[in-house]
Amino acid sequence: MSELRERLVQTLRVNDRGRYTVPSPRLYPYQWLWDSGFIALGWATFDEARAWMELESLLATQWENGMVPHIVFHDPNPDYFPGPDLWQGKGPVPSSGISQPPVLATVVRRLVEGAQDRALAERKARELYPKLYAFHRWFYRARDPEGTGLIAVLHPWESGMDNSPLWDEALARVPGVPVARLRRDTDVVASEQRPHATEYERYLGLVAALREVGYSEAESYRTSPFKVACALMNAVLQRANRDLLALAEVLGEPKGELEGWIARGDEALITLYHEGDGLFYARDLVSGEAIRIPGCDSFAPLFAGTSGPWVARLAKMLASWQRRARYLLPSIDPAHPSFEAKRYWRGPVWIQLNWLLAQGLVEHGFVKLAERLRRDSFALVETSGVYEYFDPHTGDGLGGESFAWTAALLLDWLERGEM
Ligand code: GLC
Repeated sequence: MSELRERLVQTLRVNDRGRYTVPSPRLYPYQWLWDSGFIALGWATFDEARAWMELESLLATQWENGMVPHIVFHDPNPDYFPGPDLWQGKGPVPSSGISQPPVLATVVRRLVEGAQDRALAERKARELYPKLYAFHRWFYRARDPEGTGLIAVLHPWESGMDNSPLWDEALARVPGVPVARLRRDTDVVASEQRPHATEYERYLGLVAALREVGYSEAESYRTSPFKVACALMNAVLQRANRDLLALAEVLGEPKGELEGWIARGDEALITLYHEGDGLFYARDLVSGEAIRIPGCDSFAPLFAGTSGPWVARLAKMLASWQRRARYLLPSIDPAHPSFEAKRYWRGPVWIQLNWLLAQGLVEHGFVKLAERLRRDSFALVETSGVYEYFDPHTGDGLGGESFAWTAALLLDWLERGEM
């Protein structure tokens, strides 16, 4: 095991840029929000100060309105598109203008509870707490202005599941912007593992729409042609609200609106549950329709920290996918027509999803199934390498190499003796 551990540590070191860690040196040469959250957990297994620095460098880029951007362009890199010129972010550091799944409060709580250096952890958590709180408030103000308890994503990239087929129908309404000669991702990764050109043009159309209203919260929400409440985003936020509340208790901070957010969010999350299918589905907030595509998103509420009769059904459904793929968990049900084993978010296994779901399963008592997710994650990395995503049938490593969160989350499992 120690040889593997050494390799994982080495991956973080190679991707380290001093105060932040790039997800993958060639494909993603900047700082990404939820990547940095997971990456901090990896650093914490051998360098707690560096783990805190990862979070500090990210949260230092928070916009005045509380938003933490999904990409921060710390050091210019001509190899990446779309970069700072296209986004024209409004924060203190050049950045994108949308956010990503808010795992940060969950990470901070985990760092505090696992800390060797407790004094450092409490000091850092106290410094970061108001920023985390402002971040969650931003979500409710900017992404749920009607107070429904469900936050929307205004761009597929905001969900973290960039190219999922969940977005196809909603995205088809978005006017595209020509892109062919600007794209750089297909220089690095084979095009059959990356999004199609038409989708990419629409992604850029959405960036243009947000940029044109100057990222104004009210206008962005009102005018966006793309508005979807997905289960992953809402489950992660619910979980993070609970972890923020736990931090407030440790730090003696006022609980403010946290209890209200949690109660309302739990009630709202359950409205995404499809009783007949026993799965959660995203809702297209423009058409009002459920997006009935079974994928990793469907299981994310296992991680939300809430419970109900749906938990056992969801776990059973997840267990049944063991018959559909050699490795868990495919990002889309292999039996669904939109499944593609090798294309970005349309079927491959992602380690960060396995990590979130394994955690949720353990909490609900499904220990064996959690072990299966972890075992498959290790098997994939050991046979194929430290990749971004993996073919659920063959186990082939796909997308970016030397992938930081893949390394970090395996380190976290090793550290906790969970593998
Ligand atoms: C891709 C993923 C996104 C991730 C980013 C950096 O865009 O879809 O979730 O944050 O890569 O790893």
